[in-house]
Amino acid sequence: MPDKVRIFDTTLRDGEQSPGISLNVPEKIEIAEELTRLGVDVIEAGFPVASDGDFEAVKAIADHVKGSAVAGLSRTAFADIDRCWEAIKNAEQPRIHVFIATSPTHMEHKLRMTPDQVLAEAVAAVTKAKSYTADVEFSPEDGTRSDHGFLVEVLRAVVEAGATTLNIPDTVGYGVPDEFGKLIALLVDEVNPPDGVVFSTHCHNDLGLAVANSLAGVAGGARQVECTINGIGERAGNAALEEIVMAIKTRSDFFGLETGIRTEEIARASRMVSRLTGYVVQPNKAVVGRNAFAHESGIHQHGVLVERSTYEIMDAEDVGQEAAQIVLGKHSGRHAFQDTLEKMGIHVQGDALNQAFKRFKELADRKVQITEADLEAIVAEELGQLGETYTLESYEVRNGTGDTPWARVVIEREGVKAEAEGEGDGMIDAVCGAIRRATGTDGRLVGFNVSSVTEGVDALGDVTIQLEVDDRRVTGRGVSTDVVEASARAFLSAVNIAMRLRSERAGVRAGDESGP
Ligand code: KIV
Ligand code: ZN
Repeated sequence: MPDKVRIFDTTLRDGEQSPGISLNVPEKIEIAEELTRLGVDVIEAGFPVASDGDFEAVKAIADHVKGSAVAGLSRTAFADIDRCWEAIKNAEQPRIHVFIATSPTHMEHKLRMTPDQVLAEAVAAVTKAKSYTADVEFSPEDGTRSDHGFLVEVLRAVVEAGATTLNIPDTVGYGVPDEFGKLIALLVDEVNPPDGVVFSTHCHNDLGLAVANSLAGVAGGARQVECTINGIGERAGNAALEEIVMAIKTRSDFFGLETGIRTEEIARASRMVSRLTGYVVQPNKAVVGRNAFAHESGIHQHGVLVERSTYEIMDAEDVGQEAAQIVLGKHSGRHAFQDTLEKMGIHVQGDALNQAFKRFKELADRKVQITEADLEAIVAEELGQLGETYTLESYEVRNGTGDTPWARVVIEREGVKAEAEGEGDGMIDAVCGAIRRATGTDGRLVGFNVSSVTEGVDALGDVTIQLEVDDRRVTGRGVSTDVVEASARAFLSAVNIAMRLRSERAGVRAGDESGP
């Protein structure tokens, strides 16, 4: 049994299936590049047959991103497999990930197929995928609710057909650690595949057990874990990459295993995914939460000062949590600015650099110490706006005791300015109302969250807004030292995403209910 656990990241596929997440191609490439810096073994880039947009994103990642295997997800239909191969064929190491459900409930109600048909379909699909690439992964969807004897039969047959990774999904987050660990051990034992075939886990978090189940699977013999940054994913999400990796590292005495992850990149990857998806990280989240290394009680603080290991089992530096130190200030020039961004892995030039530098200078006038986390937030937001339909030219708000909060905004679209006013329950409500009028958007506000990027009274306010437009949820994010401005930016960014999706809709194929 090898002592390395492969990390298969599915942030861009299962993670992107979270409600409200809709990443464009450059954003997906940005995340994929960060994943390779992090050292993940496999990036699951998407589900190419799902839409033209998904296909383009998977293809762009396979064409450009080097250093990790790139997987595309596919159902068993040959047309899906062909499309998947078309998208990933230029990758350094292309992997086709084929799945079909094996549980009685999925076979009967979703697929309307008999177990024999499912078995035949699985074998045919793996054989087809194998004709394209040596690296084929097979998943019996809803594995934990499948009959164990049938699972063994299907897995043996797909190994025979050439599958090299056998991934066991706990699709609905039903498993409990002891049982899931035993299931993996049973399958390792009874399928008994030849050397080189790896068992894998794919656990959902419906009962909050995704990480525990994945680790139990590793203890049972799995040598690949499928997971996502910050644990994002369908419903309650997937197993969190950072927790899996740090558990295996911190408790190497127990597991006797290692991953190839460069753990110092974890915090940056977490911030990037949070920023681009609009999914904020809870402050007490293990490993990457803002408070994960903060000590409030005097006894703990004293203990850590005397000897860190009294109350800390990991070092914040090991996961890159110390990166939010002071990096730049108001006197920093363009070279220092660009240099710092380059070191952070953000490459900008020309107009994009000018825009980002202008935004940095505006911020430096309001905030004395600009940290790496601040820089990431403003530069990303600024770059995300380049080429967008609407931009915020200016805004004005008025409020006071006994007054009705009022706002006026000036929005620009293709060089044309539109001005509108709004009133509301508060200044944020008023400014969002004014933007609605100026852009003619009638989306329903379904989520609003404000947090601070760093500490202190001059910290950047980081606002995420979820809007429901045309029956789809979109998430916008905005940052500023002024929370009303951050909200206006977030609202407008959600409107821009909704506009983009509206115009892309024509190219998107009809939705398919037998997707993962
Ligand atoms: O949860 C699941 O079963 C999946 C499979 C497609 C691997 O995401
Ligand atoms: Zn899944």
